Amino acid sequence: MTSIPAETLSQSIRADQTFLQSILTGLQAEQKTIDSKWLYDPKGSHLFDQITELDAYYPTRTEIEILERGLGELAPQIRPGTALMELGSGSSVKTRLVFEHIPGLSTYVPVDISESHLLAAAADLARDYPLIEMRPIVGDFTSDISLPKDLSNVPKLLFFPGSTIGNFEPEGAVELLTRCRQIERVDDFIVGFDLVKDPCTLVRAYDDELGVTAAFNLNLLVRINRELGADFETAAFRHEARWNKRDSRIEMHLVSKRSQTVGIAGKRIQFSQGETIHTENSHKYTTDRFSDLAGQAGWSVGEIWTDEQDLFAVALLKPE
Ligand SMILES: C[S@@+](CC[C@H](N)C(=O)[O-])C[C@H]1O[C@@H](n2cnc3c(N)ncnc32)[C@H](O)[C@@H]1O
Repeated sequence: MTSIPAETLSQSIRADQTFLQSILTGLQAEQKTIDSKWLYDPKGSHLFDQITELDAYYPTRTEIEILERGLGELAPQIRPGTALMELGSGSSVKTRLVFEHIPGLSTYVPVDISESHLLAAAADLARDYPLIEMRPIVGDFTSDISLPKDLSNVPKLLFFPGSTIGNFEPEGAVELLTRCRQIERVDDFIVGFDLVKDPCTLVRAYDDELGVTAAFNLNLLVRINRELGADFETAAFRHEARWNKRDSRIEMHLVSKRSQTVGIAGKRIQFSQGETIHTENSHKYTTDRFSDLAGQAGWSVGEIWTDEQDLFAVALLKPE
């Protein structure tokens, strides 16, 4: 039997406690809430990959199209030996475009909370790009991510695609961008964000006809049952995507179909019929509003690339 090193074991025990604490705090709030980072267990990451291939989910294919057109322009500005650091790298599909268009990168540092998915993606990339050193970091980028010390003096290109920045409230986005600004020797930062558009297109992207996004959202309850021993009856909840005009965001909720009580770690959580758990925000920006947030975080905005229909945008930021 393979033994698990003690360090890994004690870290995973702490991780379980963090998960439980976060879930209990969120479900005991007046508007029940679960942090969207918990959507990404192995099954959730796999479902997210399926979402990116849906016809209704325009962000992934649009961002790929924008990067394919734009990255060649950026390439001459990137110094040979630069390390590429990516936040929320998932399956690293867009990373391959960066590797193809920007030659001479020395190292790839993907950071993701979804461990097995991250390690599988890094292993695939190592096979396909043997000259680039893979240094995956399993972690939560909302808490401190310390980079390996030997990379502190290496020039860096930061990459944050997928409109993951939109999962944060604007103040949280400024905080995260500010922490990115504090990473040593960052020359350039590529950030993908989603643009404001008609609510029908937006709702359809987050509530597809095939029910993949619904499965992604409901998988949270399956995960909580499995990892925290809760007794959610998943069939008693349904997925809902809402456009919140005031806050310019799509919200994902899990709606309780009836009045019910759920047990988690000795606590009883009461749901009335129609009450929701708010599971994800996806903020939509104008280019001006995003530039304002980036400026507040100490970044100067260079170009912003968009597609012909103005569905999505990719900003090139430089330290001010
Ligand atoms: C919207 S997906 C984007 C994936 C990929 N970058 C793309 O463009 O398709 C968000 C990714 O960020 C990761 N993630 C979400 N919250 C995180 C957190 N707090 N810390 C680290 N990774 C996180 C998820 O596991 C997932 O891979």
